[in-house]
Amino acid sequence: MTLKLVKPSKKYLQAFLKAWDDYKQDTNRFKHVDITPLERALESNNVDGFFKQIENNERGINLPDGYVPSTTFWLMDDDDWVGSFSIRHQLTPKLEQMGGHIAVNISPKYRGKYSSFVGIKMCMVKAHKLGLKRVLMTCDENNRASFRAIMGLMKLYGGEQLPDTIVDGHGEHRVWVNTARK
Ligand SMILES: CC(C)(COP(=O)(O)OP(=O)(O)OC[C@H]1O[C@@H](n2cnc3c(N)ncnc32)[C@H](O)[C@@H]1OP(=O)(O)O)[C@@H](O)C(=O)NCCC(=O)NCCS
Repeated sequence: MTLKLVKPSKKYLQAFLKAWDDYKQDTNRFKHVDITPLERALESNNVDGFFKQIENNERGINLPDGYVPSTTFWLMDDDDWVGSFSIRHQLTPKLEQMGGHIAVNISPKYRGKYSSFVGIKMCMVKAHKLGLKRVLMTCDENNRASFRAIMGLMKLYGGEQLPDTIVDGHGEHRVWVNTARK
């Protein structure tokens, strides 16, 4: 695999659509959260609007209510769409409870291959450049893959696990991870 982070653009849409076919069969209950906006844009035939919004999100323009600026990257394996990573530039009280700094979504085909681990490591460099010395990573207590990836990162970079919060009736693990390697 030759993985690289790219800024989302129409150039990668065909690759995303291929991955999207796999998402449709996906039974993982944590699956869609961060890619629903693109699904909605496809349904309403407003893909240009989706890419414009991604640009705006980075610049803090026309943000939805309660949102902070965020930079989104797609992880590509040559011409294959691997996943999406959104780095929020700051936290809100809500993101401190659930969501944290980085949202991650890996296409079904690329899961269990350390794609999230490698992608988040690449995002650490970007987060550091954004001025974040550490990032808060959170996941549902039942999301074992996500938690293992987060704990693996904490081991590598250093950090601190916070007490879980209870959100919508489930426990949410929360871990600070430094953005520069130990
Ligand atoms: C959670 C998710 C991001 C993990 O991505 P991934 O690329 O499959 O994870 P990785 O291959 O990098 O593996 C990370 C760790 O999880 C473990 N893992 C991977 N899949 C697993 C699974 N299904 N069950 C338990 N552990 C799993 C790996 O062994 C590894 O742990 P280790 O270092 O102790 O061996 C991915 O499954 C996903 O996108 N899920 C849907 C969306 C989602 O849950 N996003 C995160 C919200 S917080």
